[in-house]
Amino acid sequence: MNVNGKPYRAIWPDPDDPAVVKIIDQKVLPHRFELIGLRTMEEAVAAIKDMTVRGAPLIGATGAWAVYLALVNRPATGDAPAFFEAACRTVANARPTAVNLAWAVEKVKAVVLKEKDVSAWRATAFDEAARITDLEVENCRRIGLHGLPLIEAIRAKKGGDAVNVLTHCNAGWLACVDHGTATAPMYAAHDKGIPIHVWVDETRPLNQGARLTAFELLGHGVPHTVITDNAGGHLMQHGMVDIVIVGSDRTTATGDVANKVGTYLKALAARDNNVPFYVALPSSTIDWTMKDGVAEIPIEERDPMEVRSVWGLTGSDGTLAVKVPPEKSPCANFAFDVTPGRLVTGLITERGVCPATRSGIAGLFPDLVKA
Ligand code: MRU
Repeated sequence: MNVNGKPYRAIWPDPDDPAVVKIIDQKVLPHRFELIGLRTMEEAVAAIKDMTVRGAPLIGATGAWAVYLALVNRPATGDAPAFFEAACRTVANARPTAVNLAWAVEKVKAVVLKEKDVSAWRATAFDEAARITDLEVENCRRIGLHGLPLIEAIRAKKGGDAVNVLTHCNAGWLACVDHGTATAPMYAAHDKGIPIHVWVDETRPLNQGARLTAFELLGHGVPHTVITDNAGGHLMQHGMVDIVIVGSDRTTATGDVANKVGTYLKALAARDNNVPFYVALPSSTIDWTMKDGVAEIPIEERDPMEVRSVWGLTGSDGTLAVKVPPEKSPCANFAFDVTPGRLVTGLITERGVCPATRSGIAGLFPDLVKA
């Protein structure tokens, strides 16, 4: 997508220096647009952990490039397989909930270990990381194509009025390398001239909606309004939301959806108000081994400091943390929640839309489903 008229992805190998991978610093958006060059696996892992890069497909792509960077800096002597195994483990454990990370690391690991010539590992990892990055872009583009008819159908029913979409967190191009998952159908509709308006949940504590989704929609000229996290139910009760579309960090083979904390409450409100609730995700987000999302999906608990303060930038460019609760009050920071598949109207994937059920998912992905 374009930033100030120039096309960007959320991650790319530096064309001038093959030992560097470039990312956009998402911690300082929307007020500063800054690029960072990652040179080591450790830097890439730190960027995933501190959410300089975030969002499930981008975490996966960054993980793939992190494995590549480990091989760029591999010591000339020593046990190469042991070094590589340890690097893959470190990268895969950078954040727990988005399964795209383990998926991408496994992909790179598999092709590298097939290569008997250790001196070719670096180039093999580069090619695979580039392939995974391109694949996620294409998957998101297809999610847009498959989600577009859902918005078109609402438009047809409503007549000329704008279709009101509600989304949570940032499941946009910044989270996904390009296009986004939840946002891809919105961009497709907007680009086709369908009037849409997006309600953007601010998404405390790190405000990915207010900072990143709003930045993206503004950049692409999509009408939107930032709302507090708790406003969605009220809007749905008053007929102001036609469809909810969110992303996912891990979806079980049975259709339970982990996404940014607060998603579950939106699904409950949507069900109570007969608002369709869709989840957009590439197949790299499906955990084929899990059956019960609430019981099995690991929910990241982040530093309570993120809850204790609201972070932002001052006019003079410095970061600013505004303290909110009493300093002695304990805080907790559950970063994700799980929406049971029964509350999900459908999953929008790169292969089409399906029910959030084992048979629905298996019908679209018979080649990936495990017995
Ligand atoms: O903690 P984050 O910012 O990585 O969480 C991101 C989300 O929850 C997104 O909604 C999810 O990754 C889907 S991204 C396409």
